[in-house]
Amino acid sequence: MSATVSSTSRAVQLRARIEERTALVGIIGLGYVGLPLALTFTERQFRVLGFDVDRKKVDSLHAGDPYIRHLDWGRVTSAAGSGRLQATSDFLRLSEPDVLIVCVPTPLTPQREPDMSYVEGTARQIAKSLRRDQLVVLESTTYPGTTDELVRGILEQTGLVSGRDFFLAFSPEREDPGNSSYGTATIPKVVGGVDPVSGDLAQALYGGVISKTVRVSSSRTAEATKLVENIFRAVNIALVNELKIVFDRMGIDIWEVLDAASTKPFGFMRFNPGPGWGGHCIPLDPFYLTWKAREYGVTPKFIELAGEVNEQMPHYVVEKLQAALNDRGKAMKGSKILVFGLAYKKNIDDARESPAFVIIDELLRKGAVVSYHDPHIPQAPSVRNWPDLPAMTSARLEPETLAACDAALIVTDHSSVDYALVARHAPLVVDTRGVYRESLPNLVKS
Ligand SMILES: NC(=O)c1ccc[n+]([C@@H]2O[C@H](COP(=O)([O-])OP(=O)(O)OC[C@H]3O[C@@H](n4cnc5c(N)ncnc54)[C@H](O)[C@@H]3O)[C@@H](O)[C@H]2O)c1
Repeated sequence: MSATVSSTSRAVQLRARIEERTALVGIIGLGYVGLPLALTFTERQFRVLGFDVDRKKVDSLHAGDPYIRHLDWGRVTSAAGSGRLQATSDFLRLSEPDVLIVCVPTPLTPQREPDMSYVEGTARQIAKSLRRDQLVVLESTTYPGTTDELVRGILEQTGLVSGRDFFLAFSPEREDPGNSSYGTATIPKVVGGVDPVSGDLAQALYGGVISKTVRVSSSRTAEATKLVENIFRAVNIALVNELKIVFDRMGIDIWEVLDAASTKPFGFMRFNPGPGWGGHCIPLDPFYLTWKAREYGVTPKFIELAGEVNEQMPHYVVEKLQAALNDRGKAMKGSKILVFGLAYKKNIDDARESPAFVIIDELLRKGAVVSYHDPHIPQAPSVRNWPDLPAMTSARLEPETLAACDAALIVTDHSSVDYALVARHAPLVVDTRGVYRESLPNLVKS
């Protein structure tokens, strides 16, 4: 009885601090997800203490030096200038915040299994200084059960008990970098607690800064919700990519088909084909579920199949390019290919898991001479899966550069590129994104 009373009074006090905005919010991982989230809290008058193992990010935040290009950095300097946003790499300070929100990476291992080392490492760091009354919320995308099995297990090794001494919830991040219609504050936030009190507190926290919260019955349901969203995208991208190949053989333009199909006012949702899949979410997250499902004796076939189809797409693009060069009496070996777009999607600077690297790697192995143009990525980053790619910088987009190449390959369709200029001067254009809807003598749709 006394435990219940004390946990309730603790929760009431924490809730009051959250509602009065006097609660200090700690955000662990100041990347694409954590930093916009930190700003969302500071802009609603919360004080935020950000934590990152990457000291360069911490220094950049204090120096006003942008490290996420598509983010309005004025928001960062104003939050830092107001004193409401501070950042540190000193994890001993994890005891200071009332709330700790975890936004660390959840990649796959080389064997394509969940790499939980970041979440686990963070939970261990928190455990070192976990104190009564703290609310811990995991936001990193992960398999159902992570919060109430893995994270709770580590935190309870301290002797403190979740739901009684501290509070624990999961709330998936739905950030869509570069989306001008929706931002962190306006994307409804799904919230599920390991126990009802934790769920209530997490809902109160996000309810104060985000336009709508969606409460679900448990942290597992919240984890599963996020995976369903990304699996839905992965499977539909695979479907439309496969249809593109089928229609291409039939001499039917997939883009014209999709434009027409999209006029149906119900029962159809458009997905566009492309050179594969990319980013930190869609190519990775679905496999968190397949991995966990095996523990329950189930192998989800749709997800594996979507993976196979999408991972074949960069090779299909290279084949189309090779055939188009061949039609013009050219071999791939020695051909100069100018690749447009390293980022995995348009108008952002994020190249993680980008199909551009698979394509460039294959082009180089076939003997092509490769350069690239990406207005958002002036210098090609070093990439984990392709450590041998040469150092490259973005080529200037000029008529002479275009005329000097054998083919321009559009992998990502950034809006600021002058595609009319590309079509006018490049001898061959291979378009994987439907940039050109018309037929042109030097154009191949791929
Ligand atoms: N990027 C997106 O669009 C997006 C969208 C929805 C969900 N997510 C999910 O959000 C999570 C974070 O993704 P992200 O894109 O922000 O990653 P990110 O790589 O941009 O940022 C993660 C940050 O965490 C830091 N970090 C790593 N280990 C740490 C540790 N032990 N302690 C403190 N900081 C640490 C890194 O230095 C980095 O700054 C992932 O689970 C991802 O799947 C991402």
